[in-house]
Amino acid sequence: MKGFSRRLVRESYLTVDDLIWTMIVSDQKKARDPILSLPGVERLSIDELVEDAKRAHKLGIPAIAIFPHIDPKLKDAVGSEALNADGLVPNAIRAVKNAVPELGIIVDVALDPFTDHGHDGVLVGDEIINDISVDALVEGAVILADAGADIVAPSDMMDGRVGAIRKELDQHGHHNVMIMSYAAKYASGYYGPYRDAIGTSSALRGDKRTYQMDPANSDEAIREVALDIEEGADMVMVKPGQPYLDIIYRVKTELRVPTFAFQVSGECAMIMAAAENGWADEKRVILESLMSFKRAGCDGVLTYFAPKAAEWLSERMDA
Ligand code: PBG
Repeated sequence: MKGFSRRLVRESYLTVDDLIWTMIVSDQKKARDPILSLPGVERLSIDELVEDAKRAHKLGIPAIAIFPHIDPKLKDAVGSEALNADGLVPNAIRAVKNAVPELGIIVDVALDPFTDHGHDGVLVGDEIINDISVDALVEGAVILADAGADIVAPSDMMDGRVGAIRKELDQHGHHNVMIMSYAAKYASGYYGPYRDAIGTSSALRGDKRTYQMDPANSDEAIREVALDIEEGADMVMVKPGQPYLDIIYRVKTELRVPTFAFQVSGECAMIMAAAENGWADEKRVILESLMSFKRAGCDGVLTYFAPKAAEWLSERMDA
């Protein structure tokens, strides 16, 4: 097929509007601290986070998603630091909003960056206690909304948290704060570099299989997404991304809701490892991976590759 006709019959498009740039903010001294298992990604001080947020806005990226790396000394069994209104994340949100008010800010709601055991909920003995965890998540979500977050994204997979967060946000006057729920989040081996990035790898006791989904299941994902929508989620996420394109396709075709994929740290690390060895063409493979999400039905993608992709896409438009 000739170039012009390929353009005429093309079914899916990837644009900068599809990209959410995932960023790690840190309270440590270094302004930019490379993450060894995630080439090209750095932990950022709040000042540098603001610089990257400005860059995101300049590139036309609609929103960023913020994840924290906090001092291990601040971590405890219940993740108290998640409830500090003057903590790293609320301060980061305020700084970004102040500098680039037009840029959307999405922020994770979960306890894992704040607990000394690395779990997303409150651990009593060997068990994650769902309802106590939900209470903490709800309080944390309000603090993030107070700080100026546009979208809160519960990534914990506790039951009933979306409805509880919606109710409390409304009671605090945050009717316009949206919820993007990590609705179909699998217990995955692809989160490794992220856990290095936020400093939970060595701390994590056991695994997250009691609250994250079994990679063998597909119908269950549809039920989880439907529940979250019923509880008030404005948009949903499937995570990881590329190994779960079938889930994205089913969510979009069966439920017709705003659907996002998280191209997680391990997916990005694998591509970068191959690219750095000369085993894959970085630009081609990244753009192809992002296009696969669009073909599967995604409305957008959370990805560490957002700035690179945005630059390449603008080149293509100029060409
Ligand atoms: C946990 C959380 C995880 C990620 C985002 N939020 C990992 C986990 O469940 O342990 C993963 C992101 C990535 O791998 O890039 N609240």
